Amino acid sequence: MKKQVIISAPGKLLLLGEHAVVHGKLCLVTAVSQRFKLKAKSLPSDEFMLEAPEVGVVNYRKPLSQVGKGEIPQGAKFVEMALANFLKRYPQKLGVAITTEPEFKSTFGFGSSSAATVCTLKALSELSGKSLTNKQLFDLAFKTVLDVQGVGSGFDVAAAIFGGTLLYSLGGKTIKSVPIKNLSLVVGYTGIKADTTTLVKQVNIKAKKHPQVFNAIFDQIESLVIQAHKALLKRDDQTLGELMDINQGYLEAIGAGSVKLSQLIYAARNAGAYGAKLSGAGGGDCMIAITPNSKVAAVKRSITKAGGIVVETKINAEGVKIEA
Ligand code: PMV
Repeated sequence: MKKQVIISAPGKLLLLGEHAVVHGKLCLVTAVSQRFKLKAKSLPSDEFMLEAPEVGVVNYRKPLSQVGKGEIPQGAKFVEMALANFLKRYPQKLGVAITTEPEFKSTFGFGSSSAATVCTLKALSELSGKSLTNKQLFDLAFKTVLDVQGVGSGFDVAAAIFGGTLLYSLGGKTIKSVPIKNLSLVVGYTGIKADTTTLVKQVNIKAKKHPQVFNAIFDQIESLVIQAHKALLKRDDQTLGELMDINQGYLEAIGAGSVKLSQLIYAARNAGAYGAKLSGAGGGDCMIAITPNSKVAAVKRSITKAGGIVVETKINAEGVKIEA
């Protein structure tokens, strides 16, 4: 059994299908090169210790018997609930000290919470000698994210575990690898933090009020995902861009858009992108643009001029792995 491990997992970008995926439809997600890293060491004492300075958690410690109980600081929630769920599923005395070292800011919406959850559970799996399968890891990580966040489809958990590009549906019912090599994707950050839980709840309230309209939109979004899957496999970027533009229209219709996102999306389209849309819950975070190679520089300039921050990333990153 290992005494110490370093684990990393990738962040993610949702290519098409956000919100509809919460309602049982398919989405397309890709894992990105920015990784979340975490060091875990087993302790001789029955204690849980956490250092996560990037989210304001310093010198945090509590007895194992109290893990998952009482006041938990916001920045410690995913790691602590992952430990609580692991110990509930596999009862044992596993004192552990965890230090997080993300390569990306939690503000981008690249999925730092789910990557932290996955890294924690993978580390515990190694330290305890349980060697969970990816499916067992997924189920426990998805449960943890739901315990903390209350809502979510688990697409980000799947990306963190399996990596690559995935066709995905709620709760991991579908997790299908999409074998693509590369994609000419430009990512623009709005500088505004999106609140996923609030946005998902707002969409749900509207969907209950207008069920026929929203169900039809969710069906249409899934049909865009299915066509985009085919376009991706053929590397038909022009079609993919058109499908993204249509997806963006539906996201606007259900209330996930924002002025800043639209400014960056139009900036990308006007500079020659094949198509552009928000990525994730909306309201802020990032937009993505499928762009001909010859137009990448112009699209980046245009996004910057419109007030966005271009985020350099590569898609198709490797899933969770043991670094040391
Ligand atoms: O805000 P993000 O990047 O975690 O994306 C949320 C995507 C939703 O479909 C709105 C929610 C989900 O969990 O699928």
